[in-house]
Amino acid sequence: MEMNEPQEGRHFVGKKDDLINAKRTFKTLEGRDVLILYHQGGFYALDYYCYHAGGKLETGDIEEIGGTLCIICPKHKYKISLAKGEGLCKTIDKTQNPPMPKWFSKGVKQRVHTVRETNGDVYVELSKMPGWIESDYYQGEEGKEKRAKAEAEAEADEGMESS
Ligand code: FES
Repeated sequence: MEMNEPQEGRHFVGKKDDLINAKRTFKTLEGRDVLILYHQGGFYALDYYCYHAGGKLETGDIEEIGGTLCIICPKHKYKISLAKGEGLCKTIDKTQNPPMPKWFSKGVKQRVHTVRETNGDVYVELSKMPGWIESDYYQGEEGKEKRAKAEAEAEADEGMESS
């Protein structure tokens, strides 16, 4: 059997050392675009395009927010937890006196996938979480068209700014 062949729904995505050096790796698995991240000793895998408007998460900063490790989408700065794909937002906690700003989860918005390492080989198993998760939209045909249109508009804007 080829090393790169999927085994039991797992996809070989690279050698551990290579992925650590790369820190961020893009892969298309079963037609799904996935970002594999290495951060502070751990691997994470999540849908490549932000659930909000399809921004590419690859260049997002990683920060701990309210005790949760998050990637910050570079497009509009939405915060997404690396481990669960929850969208985080800051609102006023009225249970406090005086009311204080606090981070809350908006629920799972970004599909996250399972990463396993065996003998220096790293595998990703795509999420089987049932139901619709918002980041699914940007993996489908309609979402792909919307992303392509937004990218073309952004490039046109950049062209106008630099001319
Ligand atoms: S596209 Fe990610 S925050 Fe808007």
